[in-house]
Amino acid sequence: MERSGSWLRAMVVLTCLVAASGARELKVRSRAHKAIYNHTLATILVEYASAVYMSDLTELFSWTCPRCDGKTKGFEVIELIVDVQHCLQAYVGVAKDLNAMVIAFRGTQEHSIQNWVEDLYWKQLDINYPGMPGAMVHHGFYFAYHNTTIRPGILDAVTRAKDLYGDINVMVTGHSMGGAMASFCGLDLVVNHEARNVQVLTFGQPRIGNAVFASCYSDHVPNTIRITNGHDIVPHLPPYYSRFPQKTYHHFPREVWLYNIGFGSLVYQVEKVCDSSGEDPSCSR
Ligand SMILES: *[C@@H]1O[C@H](CO)[C@@H](O)[C@H](O)[C@H]1NC(C)=O
Ligand SMILES: *[C@@H]1O[C@H](CO)[C@@H](O)[C@H](O)[C@H]1NC(C)=O
Repeated sequence: MERSGSWLRAMVVLTCLVAASGARELKVRSRAHKAIYNHTLATILVEYASAVYMSDLTELFSWTCPRCDGKTKGFEVIELIVDVQHCLQAYVGVAKDLNAMVIAFRGTQEHSIQNWVEDLYWKQLDINYPGMPGAMVHHGFYFAYHNTTIRPGILDAVTRAKDLYGDINVMVTGHSMGGAMASFCGLDLVVNHEARNVQVLTFGQPRIGNAVFASCYSDHVPNTIRITNGHDIVPHLPPYYSRFPQKTYHHFPREVWLYNIGFGSLVYQVEKVCDSSGEDPSCSR
């Protein structure tokens, strides 16, 4: 079991390196650099990921919404991006105290789940991730970021924020499906837009791609952490079948498992940091 796991891992790494050297835009990054979990930062970013659910766009834009104070006070929104047709929402802004641009994506809303979202969590509907041979990703989550008005809005705002504030850090966050979109966005910024200092921190994110994708993802965006709440089912989806690890989706590594991450309130207690692989049976599995 252990042996076949590491064999798979070795194969995946090899595939990723080959894939990366074949595609000009995909540069191999240092494996030595790994994300370090910063609990203080997590308690700040959870507030950003929570505020993007607010529906009063005027309050959100002026950062005066009920969730727009506390640790995020003084945030300057550069752009609000709303895709009404697909019920998606995101924003880009600058947090001067973090010396960073913050990009946050909303997850699905309880009362406005569109038909196209319904099967998202259960069905593993693959498409190839462009420029990454062997990497398969979830069609729905990929679509939500790449094939809606969200991506052009984000990229435009990122360019404007850079013009205004220079090459500051980029922190990408989101909850649930918003976490899946945040992951695609972080990767997009690194491989297609030469962004540096990109950090992705998501909350309760579902699996979004196969083992090749998970491995390549970690190479390109090593500064990525998934925060999981012990009670949340979404990070277990789409389901992982340990008898068919080659066939199912994998999380990328560095998961922080928390108790009581009441969403919209604060993160309380770190239960466990799992980083040996993306599928540590003692963490979200
Ligand atoms: C953790 O993040 C906070 C907020 O960005 C920062 O002030 C602090 O220096 C960080 N701690 C470490 C150890 O990097
Ligand atoms: C995204 O849109 C393009 C062009 O409209 C289309 O060719 C492609 O198949 C779409 N991708 C997905 C994942 O739907």
